[in-house]
Amino acid sequence: MRLFSLDNRLSLCASFIRKGATLADIGTDHAYLPVWLVLHGVINRALACDINEGPLCSGLDTVNRYELSDNITLRLSDGLKKVNSTEADDIVIAGMGGELISKILNDCPWAKTKGKHYILQPMTKCEVLIKYLYENGFEIIEQQACECDSKHYTVMLVEYTGDVKQIDESFLYTGKLNPSDEQSKAYLKHVLSHLQKRSIGNKELLPVIGKIKGECNL
Ligand SMILES: C[S@@+](CC[C@H](N)C(=O)[O-])C[C@H]1O[C@@H](n2cnc3c(N)ncnc32)[C@H](O)[C@@H]1O
Repeated sequence: MRLFSLDNRLSLCASFIRKGATLADIGTDHAYLPVWLVLHGVINRALACDINEGPLCSGLDTVNRYELSDNITLRLSDGLKKVNSTEADDIVIAGMGGELISKILNDCPWAKTKGKHYILQPMTKCEVLIKYLYENGFEIIEQQACECDSKHYTVMLVEYTGDVKQIDESFLYTGKLNPSDEQSKAYLKHVLSHLQKRSIGNKELLPVIGKIKGECNL
């Protein structure tokens, strides 16, 4: 069976998974991420969850094609509602909006458990997710960006620490990206240009824009 490659966005998510971790991939769709991780020996066990039966069937097809039904369990679940705390060390929530990712974390009774790794990849409203995280005792441990099909994405590794930290408004947009990294700089430029467009109807964004420009040297 021919192996497949992950695109840059899912590759970046994959790079954050701990070797030997038990994975829960929430909103798995085709289950490419857990299948790729098992095939490459990064993990041995995964739960591939989706709220919709159609994507879950696509996921099952991929799992069966690579004969990985002993390693990967498909499960119909709204977010983490049907996942027990003991079933996952590393939890990926990728390809959804920042508001939905926040809701999934908020609805999970065990999300605030130390030691769990959350690998989060918001497609939109990253600032809403970062606000939720810091108001609820989570912290971004590491954050990176990538370009995929001419679009810019960010992936963050998040842990629950229990400390509720005050953050600056500019941090909602920049997070822990390192502007001296080329991919992160490109992502930050994209965020800045989006904010500049929004600021035409919302002058309150101007000080945040100025701060991001100064802090990130853009
Ligand atoms: C755009 S796809 C992303 C697939 C994959 N995670 C990726 O990043 O390429 C979003 C998937 O999330 C699923 N989804 C949306 N809301 C969900 C929820 N509350 N719980 C679980 N899955 C959800 C959708 O059915 C869809 O399959």
